[in-house]
Amino acid sequence: MGIQISPSILNSDFSRLDRELQRIASADWAHVDVMDNHFVPNLTLGLPVVESILKVSPVPVDCHLMIEDPDRWAPAFAEAGAQSVTFHAEAAGAPIRLARELRKQGSRAGLAVKPTTAIEPYLELLPEIDMLLIMTVEPGFGGQPFLESMLPKIRRTRAAVKDSGLDVWIQVDGGVSVSTIERCADAGADVFVAGSAVYGAEDAAASITQLRELAAA
Ligand code: DX5
Ligand code: ZN
Repeated sequence: MGIQISPSILNSDFSRLDRELQRIASADWAHVDVMDNHFVPNLTLGLPVVESILKVSPVPVDCHLMIEDPDRWAPAFAEAGAQSVTFHAEAAGAPIRLARELRKQGSRAGLAVKPTTAIEPYLELLPEIDMLLIMTVEPGFGGQPFLESMLPKIRRTRAAVKDSGLDVWIQVDGGVSVSTIERCADAGADVFVAGSAVYGAEDAAASITQLRELAAA
């Protein structure tokens, strides 16, 4: 698929979601952060809002579920029509069963790991998933500084995906900006979440173009 940009709407104006989504019409995805104040210390939005987003989004929706018990909650997001649903490895009881359920609903299945969670135990799940999300900040909030120490993990993940011969995407999320995206791409990431870098910019479309160019360089 090559380089893809998935702006996070976390830092957008939630009172004007329709308009805010139009600002990222040139992106590949709209990244929607669902937080439950249990898995992470923040509370954002849930299924009813995602359903509304799906009705108006000009691009496919990339749901990042930072919630406890995704086994119970995640399938409904796929059923609602989210084109990609990512759940956290730390929270899933039966990740293989859940990934299969998401795929059965027609969604791509993503598996996310927090910065302190090793990726190696999950590499055997590669045939069951469509994307690995390597968090490059502690999940919970936008605008945090990029964790440089995650670069070797991205590299190891890319090497494992390459060895597998499977087309599993590697997403990075947290602190991705014009000053960090090149290093992420160099380490092997191919799907880039950018929240404050895009929504903090005057011209969101220009910032998407710039991020895409830097990642592809
Ligand atoms: C953080 C969320 C991110 C967040 C990224 O837990 O998962 O998607 O919105 O925001 P930035 O790009 O500002 O770090
Ligand atoms: Zn996210």
